Amino acid sequence: MKKSKKFLSGFVAAAALLIGGSLVNKTTVSAAKTPIVKKVKKTPTKKNSLILYFSLTNTTKTAANQIHKATGAKEIRLQPKVAYGDYDSAARRGDNERRNDIHPALATKLPSLKKYKTIYLGFPTWWQRPPMLISTLFDTYSFKGKTIVPFTTSMETPMNASMPYVQKMARKDKAKEVVNGYRYNGNNKAIRNWLKRANLIKK
Ligand SMILES: Cc1cc2nc3c(=O)[nH]c(=O)nc-3n(C[C@H](O)[C@H](O)[C@H](O)COP(=O)(O)O)c2cc1C
Repeated sequence: MKKSKKFLSGFVAAAALLIGGSLVNKTTVSAAKTPIVKKVKKTPTKKNSLILYFSLTNTTKTAANQIHKATGAKEIRLQPKVAYGDYDSAARRGDNERRNDIHPALATKLPSLKKYKTIYLGFPTWWQRPPMLISTLFDTYSFKGKTIVPFTTSMETPMNASMPYVQKMARKDKAKEVVNGYRYNGNNKAIRNWLKRANLIKK
């Protein structure tokens, strides 16, 4: 009787520790995490938002242009120091970079980001994630306190595949929040609707 009571109280204590421990863990982890939001509280203006994008074969450029058209935000195309060349050499190099965590040098020099509160960040999905050039962007510039709005294009991989990578980079940089991103598939009405849903444009 005594023995089983002891076992029980030991078990309860261990369970409490476990539950308590995991709860504490969960809160600390989520508190430090840059939140992913479906919509922003305040619609950005064209002056305080900026579109940054990388595009190898101009598909993401089309998406960036649509966002520019809808928001009026200035757009800047990111270029690597060493060009990726054709699709096959880009595929090989892109694979090597992601496997070995290589952050390729960025040729584009950005203006001061101080006045920008919202950064639209576009990239083609490469190997189920953002190209490593986007990691270089986060290494080079600070996105502290900013709202990051990712968008992508891909053959088929959904935006969701890239979200954890964007969130991790944003978190390291102490960004304010990341808007649940969008995969552009050539439908201009749909991307506009997403901007509306996310409160990034009014109409
Ligand atoms: C290196 C490389 C890796 C790619 N990986 C993927 C992938 O994982 N999933 C996918 O659906 N498409 C993948 N694609 C296709 C591109 O995401 C797609 O063609 C994209 O729209 C190209 O955008 P861009 O024209 O702006 O460069 C890959 C293309 C390249 C060059």
